[in-house]
Order: sequence, then structure tokens, then C-alpha cells
Amino acid sequence: MAIIGQSGAGKSTLLSLLAGLDEPTSGTVKLMETDLNQLSDAARSTWRSTNLSFIFQAFHLLPELTALENVQLPLDIRGDKQASQQAARLLGKVGLSDRQDHYPAQLSGGEQQRVAIARAFVTAPSILFADEPTGNLDAQTGENIITQLFDINEQQATTLILITHDAALASRCNRQFRLEQGMLIEGLSEARAEGLSEARAEGPNDTINKGSNVEAVKD
Ligand SMILES: Nc1ncnc2c1ncn2[C@@H]1O[C@H](COP(=O)(O)OP(=O)(O)OP(=O)(O)O)[C@@H](O)[C@H]1O
Ligand SMILES: [Mg+2]
Repeated sequence: MAIIGQSGAGKSTLLSLLAGLDEPTSGTVKLMETDLNQLSDAARSTWRSTNLSFIFQAFHLLPELTALENVQLPLDIRGDKQASQQAARLLGKVGLSDRQDHYPAQLSGGEQQRVAIARAFVTAPSILFADEPTGNLDAQTGENIITQLFDINEQQATTLILITHDAALASRCNRQFRLEQGMLIEGLSEARAEGLSEARAEGPNDTINKGSNVEAVKD
């Protein structure tokens, strides 16, 4: 599913709340029947590393580790004996087998994000949160990254929650939500949906999102 919304609408904040990285001032967040805020810090962090993965706009690779070491790190932490083989397999899936001994500074932005994708999937998470994963990449590189992300997502049957400014990208997901004035509303707004067909014909179009009255799913 995709979540769109204007800058400052609270998309990244919502993601932090959903993943138990942030604590709500009121209300509760239940993820796969678990209320993360009821868990101790240690239990929450174990739960998160077992069930969730993240991909961010700014890649967030560890600069002192090679591509392979970055990808195997989450498995190393679990004491997985197959960490290195699994990491190499995932790097192969994103087409980076020949770059596995490179450090992040020796990789292009697109290659760094492919390493981040391999790292996100290596633990076979139930849910993958991606916050503007192509925000720092040119259109063609972004397109390649998204194709790989969607492919591996389908193969591993992961639940992908994708935050994006791009209505065309959002429309490729199974479900779309928009975050507007504190409400999460299902569907692209009519302006967005119309802008989308124009955008496809004419190129980029940042139609402003002034919502229609679609059923609100969350207050
Ligand atoms: N730690 C914080 N303390 C106080 N306010 C914050 C904090 N983090 C974000 N905000 C504010 O909360 C609002 C939502 O921020 P958030 O980062 O969730 O927006 P966003 O929808 O992800 O925007 P963008 O598309 O630019 O990434 C913004 O007005 C921001 O200034
Ligand atoms: Mg954000």
C-alpha cells in the first residue's frame, strides 16, 4: 500500500508510530495483534527486528562496512550461521554480486539503495516500511529501484507500506491512502487521479491535493 500526502502532513511521523519508533501521546498502535508500546524497550526492539524492515530516502548504510557486511548485519545480530550466504544471495537479486566488497562511498546512489533493499529483505520481514525510497535518485534509477523492490516484495510476500510524493508510483500499489489534515483517507484525491492521467501524457505534474469526501478510515 502507498501513503501520499504533502510535505509536513505527517507521513514519516505516522511511519515512526506504526513501527513503534515513536510513542503516541494518546491512543494505541497495534501491529499484527501486538501493542508495541506495551512492550519493554528491549522486547520492542527484538520484536521490531524480527518482524519489520525499513528503507529510507537517505539509504542509511553503515559507511565502515562493505555492501555484503551491511546486508548480513541484521542476520549476524541474530547469530544466523548462514548470514553471509543469505546476504550474498540477496545482493545477487539486486544485481550487485560484483560490488559486494565495495564500501558505500564507492557505490552510486542507486547502488547504495539496492544494498539497502537487499538488507531490508534479507531477514524476510512481515512488514517493510519504505519512506520515499527513490527521493534521492533520478527518475530512471528510481524506476529500476522500484521494479526490484516490487519484484522481491512479491516473491517474499511482504506487506509493503510505501510513502511517496509520486501519485503515479502510488497508483502501482494495491491500495492507496492519503494523509490529509491528520486523517488517513483511502484513495488518491480526484485532483490527484486526474493529474495522474495528465502526468502520464505530459510528464511531471504536481497537482495540489485538495481532497474529495472519501470515507475516513482513521480519526
Ligand atoms: N521531532 C519532532 N518534534 C516536533 N515536531 C516534529 C518532529 N518531527 C516532525 N515534526 C513536525 O511534524 C510535522 C510532520 O512531519 P513529518 O516529518 O512526519 O512530515 P512528512 O509528511 O514526512 O513530510 P515530508 O514529505 O517533507 O517528508 C511537520 O510539521 C514537522 O515539522
Ligand atoms: Mg517524511
